Amino acid sequence: MSSAPIRLGLLGFGEAAVRLAKDFSQNGFNDIVAYSRSGAKAQPGDPVYQRAEAAGVKLVKSVGTLAKQSDIILVLTPGKSALPALKKILKYLRPDHLYVDASSNSAHNMEQAAALIGNAAKFVDSSIMGPVDIMGLKVPFVASGPNAAEFRDRMTPHGMVITVVGSNPGDASAMKLIRSVLMKGLAMLLLETMEAAHRRNILDAVIEDSSVTFNEIPFQKIIRRYIGGTAVHCERRIHEMKECLELLQDMGSTDRATKSTIAMLRDMVKMDMPKKFTKEPETIHPVIDALIAARDSAK
Ligand SMILES: NC(=O)c1ccc[n+]([C@@H]2O[C@H](COP(=O)([O-])OP(=O)(O)OC[C@H]3O[C@@H](n4cnc5c(N)ncnc54)[C@H](OP(=O)(O)O)[C@@H]3O)[C@@H](O)[C@H]2O)c1
Repeated sequence: MSSAPIRLGLLGFGEAAVRLAKDFSQNGFNDIVAYSRSGAKAQPGDPVYQRAEAAGVKLVKSVGTLAKQSDIILVLTPGKSALPALKKILKYLRPDHLYVDASSNSAHNMEQAAALIGNAAKFVDSSIMGPVDIMGLKVPFVASGPNAAEFRDRMTPHGMVITVVGSNPGDASAMKLIRSVLMKGLAMLLLETMEAAHRRNILDAVIEDSSVTFNEIPFQKIIRRYIGGTAVHCERRIHEMKECLELLQDMGSTDRATKSTIAMLRDMVKMDMPKKFTKEPETIHPVIDALIAARDSAK
């Protein structure tokens, strides 16, 4: 790994790139060039030109110049523009370039980007896990692939917060999407619960009651107990959830999440989970392994 000073190239110069560049400069790191299509045409006085000046960034007129004047290229285009931008810059990449795609993208597109680059440069799949405009350089990045550790080791001294999460391109992007499965799914479950509670005029009491559980138990323990407990007790929970469904339907309340819960509990019974797990396992791994094995063998 090179220990020479880094020249950073920003491919895309929008909200995220501008804020990161500003924070890099304030940290004393200002060997930064940036390319965007509007930036390439900008004249002194144009807003993008002024943003670049304020952030200590030199705008360049072509992707070829960007590649020539940088060692690490950080891609901050919209997700749909990342592959087209890569195709444009590809012929200018060098094997010593670290090409970090931090656009919000599918795991599949990141795998495709890694395959397109091949040995032309060192590819890193990365995802930004928070709002850059609010958190600036403190925003967490996750990174994956064989060059992810190099990205972490070279950029952490400049203030970036980078966690390596997987050995393959696509893992970091998958992680961001999988996190959304939890966060967005939880939001819908809360909505279904709170709608029903409000229809019964017990909203505040339900918020209070559920908060006690979630405030008191560390989330790692909640994951283990909820998954382990479901494996052991899925059969009897179907009965209870059917009563929940009946209540929601009687009130005319939303019931989609509850129907999904019943469907997933039935799946677990069909997979013989209560026979495989007579008591809660110490970790969730055996339950997840059993679930994957059962699903895969049913294909
Ligand atoms: N902002 C955040 O807080 C945040 C948080 C998490 C993830 N992200 C992700 O980070 C990426 C950047 O976000 P952003 O908020 O900075 O987006 P943005 O404000 O829309 O900026 C995108 C930049 O990419 C440039 N661009 C578009 N197509 C291009 C191309 N083919 N070649 C070169 N440059 C191109 C745009 O300029 P031109 O159109 O003039 O080329 C613009 O400068 C996105 O993938 C976003 O999902 C952002």
